[in-house]
Amino acid sequence: NLYAVIMAGGSGTRFWPASRQKRPKQLLTLTGERSLLQQTVDRLGPLTPLERVLVVTGSLHADEVLEQLPDLPPENVLAEPMGRNTAAACGLAAAWVARRDPQAVCLVLPADHLIIDEMLFLTTLRRAAELAAAQQVLVTLGLTPRFAATGFGYIETGQVADPQPPAISHVAAFHEKPDLATAEEYLGSGRHLWNSGMFAWRAGVLLDELSRHLPDLAKGLGELGPCLGQADQDDTMQCVYPDLPAISIDHGVLEKSSRLRVVKADFGWSDVGSWEAMSELWELDHLGNACREGKQQIHAVDSHGNVVSAGGRLAALLGVKDLVVVVTDDVVLVAPRSKCQEVGRLLDELKVKG
Ligand code: GDD
Ligand code: MG
Repeated sequence: NLYAVIMAGGSGTRFWPASRQKRPKQLLTLTGERSLLQQTVDRLGPLTPLERVLVVTGSLHADEVLEQLPDLPPENVLAEPMGRNTAAACGLAAAWVARRDPQAVCLVLPADHLIIDEMLFLTTLRRAAELAAAQQVLVTLGLTPRFAATGFGYIETGQVADPQPPAISHVAAFHEKPDLATAEEYLGSGRHLWNSGMFAWRAGVLLDELSRHLPDLAKGLGELGPCLGQADQDDTMQCVYPDLPAISIDHGVLEKSSRLRVVKADFGWSDVGSWEAMSELWELDHLGNACREGKQQIHAVDSHGNVVSAGGRLAALLGVKDLVVVVTDDVVLVAPRSKCQEVGRLLDELKVKG
């Protein structure tokens, strides 16, 4: 019995001006025709029927989620009155699933990632789900690190449990978002993997680990549990949610748990961190300029390494390099690629939200 839990509560600002308070990254269509959330659900088709797909999101976004996923049963959208970070979101989904079957495995997936090799992705998830079904462990999916990222968690692998690919290992330690010097050390060690943010566990096993490491959260979920799927679900959520501790599953549980395993994930992955990341995901013209609408929408002379989304207009570039240019109905963003992580600063000053 397998459930997919999609975490879609992020409020990322790094894709402004395309992302707005009402339309965060996971609801945007950054590649192809489908939003990141829709692509996440599409990918799971061969693994779980929609009746066993849950989307945990903020109440502000619940309607848009259902609009984007019209075949999802409405009761499968768990709307949080406010964000309480990922430990609460994972716990809420586990409590919902446990009411039906505490032994059921939850595959937890972020709504805002891109996957290159979808066949291998499914094989790897099946492997993780089988492991979680067989043992009382929290299964992480680890990726070979490509650079000294400080925005990811690192999984220090221990003894190999099963070398058959996708290989399974014990976990010696979990380190969430290290500083740069530590990230460089991990990159060179040959033992550390990036945490993909995708997990597999039995609902009951996660709830046990929450009781052990985050007892306040477990207590709140204990109050919520009996109301999930009932008429008083929303009222109880309003009541209980504000007091839940806001901490990530990584800091709150994974850094402390001694029950971790890791499955090596080699399926090619991007967490689509900012406009800059689109330089690897959008079509390039012959001068290395990336364009959302395809290279025929760029006319570049003496211009290199730019990242452009011009909303269907022709982007004409002359003598510029390494810029991000994003045009929406009401805003034009121009920034050097190296600064596009900081677009939140603009937002703070502009207070253009909603
Ligand atoms: N429902 C809900 N509620 N979802 C949330 C909330 C919340 O309060 N906060 C975050 N999410 C969702 C985000 O939308 C995203 O899909 C996922 O949970 C992870 O949250 P992020 O905020 O994107 O986390 P991160 O990227 O900083 O770090 C995590 O992912 C990295 C890989 O991308 C960690 O797990 C890292 O260890 C990991 O390397
Ligand atoms: Mg993320």
